Amino acid sequence: MRSVLKLLLVSGCLSALAAAWAQDDQAPGQAMVVPAAGGRAAPTVMTKQPPTLHNIYGRTHLLLDGRWNYIVDPYEAGYYNYRHQPFDQSATGSGGFYDDRKPKDKTESVEYSFDGSPTLAIPGDWNSQNAKLETYEGTVWMRQQFRAAPKDGKRYFLYFGAVNYEAHVYLNGKKVGSHKGGFTPFQFEVTGRLLNGQNTVIVKADNTRHQDDIPTLNTDWWNYGGITRDVLLAETPDTYIADYQIQLAKGDMGRIEGYVQMTGAQRSQDVTITIPEAGVKATVHTGADGRAAVSIPLAKTKMRYWSPEDPKLYTVTIAAATDKLNDRIGFRTIETRGQDLLLNGKSVFLRGISLHDENPLIPGRLRGEGDMRMMLQWAKDMNCNYVRLAHYPHSEEMIKLADEMGILVWAEVPVYWTISWEKPEVYANASQQLTDLVTRDRNRASVIIWSIGNETPVSEARNVFMGKLADTVRTLDRTRLVGAALEVHRKGDEVTVEDPLADKIDLASFNEYAGWYWSNNKEMMKFSFKVNYNKPVIITEFGADALGGLHADDDTRWSEEYQDLLYKNQFKLLDAIPGLRGMTPWVLTDFRSPRRPHPYYQDFWNRKGLISETGKKKLAFYTMKAYYDQKQQQYK
Ligand code: GCU
Repeated sequence: MRSVLKLLLVSGCLSALAAAWAQDDQAPGQAMVVPAAGGRAAPTVMTKQPPTLHNIYGRTHLLLDGRWNYIVDPYEAGYYNYRHQPFDQSATGSGGFYDDRKPKDKTESVEYSFDGSPTLAIPGDWNSQNAKLETYEGTVWMRQQFRAAPKDGKRYFLYFGAVNYEAHVYLNGKKVGSHKGGFTPFQFEVTGRLLNGQNTVIVKADNTRHQDDIPTLNTDWWNYGGITRDVLLAETPDTYIADYQIQLAKGDMGRIEGYVQMTGAQRSQDVTITIPEAGVKATVHTGADGRAAVSIPLAKTKMRYWSPEDPKLYTVTIAAATDKLNDRIGFRTIETRGQDLLLNGKSVFLRGISLHDENPLIPGRLRGEGDMRMMLQWAKDMNCNYVRLAHYPHSEEMIKLADEMGILVWAEVPVYWTISWEKPEVYANASQQLTDLVTRDRNRASVIIWSIGNETPVSEARNVFMGKLADTVRTLDRTRLVGAALEVHRKGDEVTVEDPLADKIDLASFNEYAGWYWSNNKEMMKFSFKVNYNKPVIITEFGADALGGLHADDDTRWSEEYQDLLYKNQFKLLDAIPGLRGMTPWVLTDFRSPRRPHPYYQDFWNRKGLISETGKKKLAFYTMKAYYDQKQQQYK
């Protein structure tokens, strides 16, 4: 629901508002500041921010998407003076491109200008919009101008769905904050900083990679930079509903369990939760900290539980005296029982596929609902009921679409390969990204698994790091499962998972590349998987590269036939694993990767897609579908 509302504001009593804001909101804020790693812009000294607004599209907002002027700034000349000192840390706080200065007359020289600069479509990465920026890693400044008329008694937030990787944000020439992490939402309160009339927001985005980042230096996906998701100016009452969880209790289809969190001066008040179609109406009273637990018995007979077969979403209204929000929520339980996996109490097989947040047809981050629906529909065409959204949080829209289309979701944070395990600030960043992901999607029925990482190498420091992440996600949400994509070990013809992290997660979930990175189609059948965990076994990745349209015998690498036979072999190997409860082969479509330079077979594409970059379904796509049709029958 996108309501665009001309924002009207009489700037009278802003100071009173700011004072009220300053003294409350002891709720945990976003830790925006991570110490500067080498060569990085100095972090901003931040004031504590209230938690990221939940259900942002359900609030009054102005969408700031559209054409933004941009300036490419490889030497960060718009951020640092010639002594490499940040302008926004100087005594005046000005001097950088965020001043949006214009020469007052012919005698004055200003060495940059947004006016007349080219524009980017926002949301959108810069790499796919300007061939010169296809591989660009560095700083780009982006400017948008908008009209606002802020109102008394209202609060205002600049909200970003995602900016890759480090963002510094300025409003009307003043710094409002900075953020690290390319795939999760963040916001800055700008109450009292909006002008009545024309406003200017300027973002410095920098996608330069660093060892101490999350993700770190080395990944197998394109480092798309920029403002890749929606930008909104949101308006809330002074006291508003900041966050809530309205979901079924763990393993209990007869009770809704959750909480409501109010923020603001009147945060202690009655809040009513209404689900008309389910005959639910319950009132709770939030305490001095603005929080109230929610526990509502349900008449099971009246409920249509959310599932891929029947993705029923209910309109849920959360109403307080000062604020009201609507949401569309599905109700389902997900749990494990030994090696069994139960959705709404019934065994389920996760017929899945992995995918990146990228449109292969016009390489770039998915640009909107059309792109997202295309990807999920391709998965449905393969008879999937589940997707692994790799390797980082995809957009909120994508998750809502999965809710609507009835597709179960594995959601993941980009703790990928070899991270700087020992550094507390790196852990803080990873933990913050995980918190922001859960905070954003905690009411989405489609999301059943939170993944804390992919192919991370076993070591003491890593085990501690990942163990803490697993604990963190359990404190944030008890209703879903915790997973991670682990690696396998081979002893002779036996393939096992020996990873202490497996004891901390709810699944025996792992990647294995039998037949591609090790062994081949001829030999791979001699191997067998030994999984010694009393947990559902989920294969998070297997696969092989095939250049779409290349046909040969099934021994010939890169051919569709090789990929197809490998899938058939994999099904035989995997079906032999007693606790097998799902899989997400690597990968739905070919995707861009800077690690894939082979001039003929790859051309900087990872070719493990079951669909090529032109949208062509490869042989193995149909083999996969046939396997899932059979699994669907088996678990009917
Ligand atoms: C890895 C990794 C993927 C990568 C894939 C591949 O396991 O998790 O991100 O793209 O293998 O090598 O194709």
